[in-house]
Amino acid sequence: MVYDDRPIGVFDSGLGGLTVVRALLDLVPGADVVYFGDTGRFPYGNKPAYEVMKYSLEIVDLLLEHDVGMIVIACNSAAAVALDHLRDRLDVPVVGVIEPGLRAARRATRAGRVGVIGTVGTISSGAYQRTAAQLEPCLELTCAACPGFVEFVEQGDVESDQVHVLAERLLAPVRQACVDTLVLGCTHYPLLARTIADVMGPDVVLVSSADETAFEVRAELDEPVRRRPDRSEPRRVKFMTSGDPTMFRELGARFLGPEVEQVEAWSWS
Ligand code: DGL
Repeated sequence: MVYDDRPIGVFDSGLGGLTVVRALLDLVPGADVVYFGDTGRFPYGNKPAYEVMKYSLEIVDLLLEHDVGMIVIACNSAAAVALDHLRDRLDVPVVGVIEPGLRAARRATRAGRVGVIGTVGTISSGAYQRTAAQLEPCLELTCAACPGFVEFVEQGDVESDQVHVLAERLLAPVRQACVDTLVLGCTHYPLLARTIADVMGPDVVLVSSADETAFEVRAELDEPVRRRPDRSEPRRVKFMTSGDPTMFRELGARFLGPEVEQVEAWSWS
């Protein structure tokens, strides 16, 4: 048996990808993780595709310098533009969040009417519509961009009256479409789940791609290379940010948990 003990490299524009890291820590025991949050250049969702592609390639190069054995693009905006390119270009497996989110939605929906909310970049890229047409053609999608949500999360504000008012306005199209399932197509949005659930009402199932993505990572690790079962040393989780490490640590610990202890500063010079 060949073992691959290299860490999993995970990235996002900021804190949102920590929702995926939480699922990885819970569902893929024993795997080391290196996380990069590009907080210094966030948000990605309102930037042109070529710029998000450039940032994604730079981060992947950085993660590969940390000898990661797999890349998880824990950012819908980056996955929407860079997933295919990275899969073609890299020797290590690359997992995104769009396919897992749609798979989870197909399992959750009763009537097939599924809403997808995401950043302007993700929604206007058409990545959800294209992927659903290929993999889950039975789903009837209603997509809506939610500009402003990510900024609230990065400020640590996930439940104020202002977020609630914004959510009422931005979620109107998916409410009018009477969706029974809503894909949180931005990894920041699970942190707003309470507000989004209040607005959508109890009959709508909220789907985060985090757990499903972690299951996909686990399947990748199991086949054909297995994690060493008898590993005795504690798991290593490393966090890096291009923004303010103190703020990242404080909010990261609040959103992800005590695993966010030390955060290294990174500068794109
Ligand atoms: N968390 C990201 C996503 O899933 C990025 C949001 C942003 O930076 O605009 O889309």
